[in-house]
Amino acid sequence: MKVILETERLFLREYVEADAEAFFKLNSDPEVLRFVPDKGLLNVEQARQILVDHPIADYRKYGFGRGACILKSTGEQIGFAGLKYLEEFGEVDVAFRLMRTHWGQGLATEAALACVRFGFAKLGLKRIIGLVMPENIASVRVLEKTGLRYAETVTFWGSQFSKYVITQ
Ligand SMILES: CC(C)(COP(=O)(O)OP(=O)(O)OC[C@H]1O[C@@H](n2cnc3c(N)ncnc32)[C@H](O)[C@@H]1OP(=O)(O)O)[C@@H](O)C(=O)NCCC(=O)NCCS
Repeated sequence: MKVILETERLFLREYVEADAEAFFKLNSDPEVLRFVPDKGLLNVEQARQILVDHPIADYRKYGFGRGACILKSTGEQIGFAGLKYLEEFGEVDVAFRLMRTHWGQGLATEAALACVRFGFAKLGLKRIIGLVMPENIASVRVLEKTGLRYAETVTFWGSQFSKYVITQ
């Protein structure tokens, strides 16, 4: 499995199909999905298909994509983080989604900071965005602590999102 980056407490590594169960567990918690446009996953097979069609396809197409967050101390998979090229915007966005049991420990900020640095230093990006529902206060905080700043409000997938931006 390919490690994308490492932080003090986390590994971010590329997804593989065998992560379907963990991905399903993450994406079937309504609290986790409260402020994200994705619908809850129905089963592990659907989770596997999404991994194949999205992050795993992105690695091949663009050379990068979102990855699985592994807690170094236990080896547990606690969620995802990472950069994704958004075709509809022609921009790269940073995102994070963690299991509820691991919220409130600064882990999303730790992951997001490392992802942004990686994007600038290793991928040569000039600009990274973050899309967030304005009522998702924890996520807005993470973006701000990562150095992104509010730029504008955009509508897509039928909802309004605040677009945050950081430039190198
Ligand atoms: C968003 C998410 C990844 C944050 O993870 P986390 O590891 O708890 O984040 P951090 O601990 O790094 O930082 C969270 C910050 O938000 C603050 N926060 C959290 N909930 C809050 C609330 N309801 N009101 C005000 N501040 C809040 C925390 O205090 C912290 O800020 P601080 O360091 O200034 O105290 C996590 O809540 C999650 O997975 N949510 C569901 C998925 C999601 O919405 N992802 C983002 C989509 S854009």
